[in-house]
Amino acid sequence: MSQMLTIALSKGRILEDTLPLLAAAGIEMLDDPEKSRKLIFTTSDPDVRILIVRATDVPTYVEQGAADLGVAGKDVLMEFGSQGLYEPLDLKIAKCKLMTAGPVGGAEPQGRLRVATKFVNVARRYYAEQGRQVEVIKLYGSMELAPLVGLADKIIDVVDTGNTLKANGLEPQELIATISSRLIVNKASMKMKHARLRALIDRLAAAVEQRN
Ligand code: ADP
Ligand code: PRP
Ligand code: MG
Repeated sequence: MSQMLTIALSKGRILEDTLPLLAAAGIEMLDDPEKSRKLIFTTSDPDVRILIVRATDVPTYVEQGAADLGVAGKDVLMEFGSQGLYEPLDLKIAKCKLMTAGPVGGAEPQGRLRVATKFVNVARRYYAEQGRQVEVIKLYGSMELAPLVGLADKIIDVVDTGNTLKANGLEPQELIATISSRLIVNKASMKMKHARLRALIDRLAAAVEQRN
């Protein structure tokens, strides 16, 4: 019996870095999602299809079983909470760091710290562990702007080269976590489609090894 596998991916760096790993595992996309408005794609394997969703929505699709597996940044998984998911493989792609950042040479603000971020759960947990009182301000993007216009004292965001921070007069401060993207798997799928998923995970693991 053939079992359909559905994989959730996001456009941009995750798609770009995951496609070579999937290809090494024998799965190739027939169309280029970056050039299409479609959201469901067939592959060279008639029993594998790929859904294109927002990066932050990948865990939701996988946890709910709308996709059997997916690829998500560890930052996204830390924010989402990975209780309801298996995370069997570090794909070692889209590497960056989750950090606090603030104005270059800025003094530590007195009193209650205001932190702008899209990672509000991570932020609350991080400062709670340090026993620091903070006001967390939820943003959806362009976090670097917040300290420049007095919306917040600091931000929490992912940093790679540091160029984005630098271009906005900010500097990286505390390291919260080193980040890479992970393969995530729906818990029920892992039972129901075990042999199929195990084989794919093993082939992806071998492809990751080859590239690192
Ligand atoms: P989004 O549209 O949500 O910003 P991205 O494709 O930019 O999605 O990011 C997907 C994942 O890639 C993030 O969750 C993070 O783990 C990682 N990432 C984000 N920015 C960078 C970067 N500049 N360099 C390397 N990895 C990054
Ligand atoms: C990401 C992230 C930072 C930047 C960090 O943005 O949100 O702004 O990369 O990388 P750097 O340290 O090398 O500058 P991205 O390029 O994903 O753009 P986005 O705002 O569309 O997410
Ligand atoms: Mg981005």
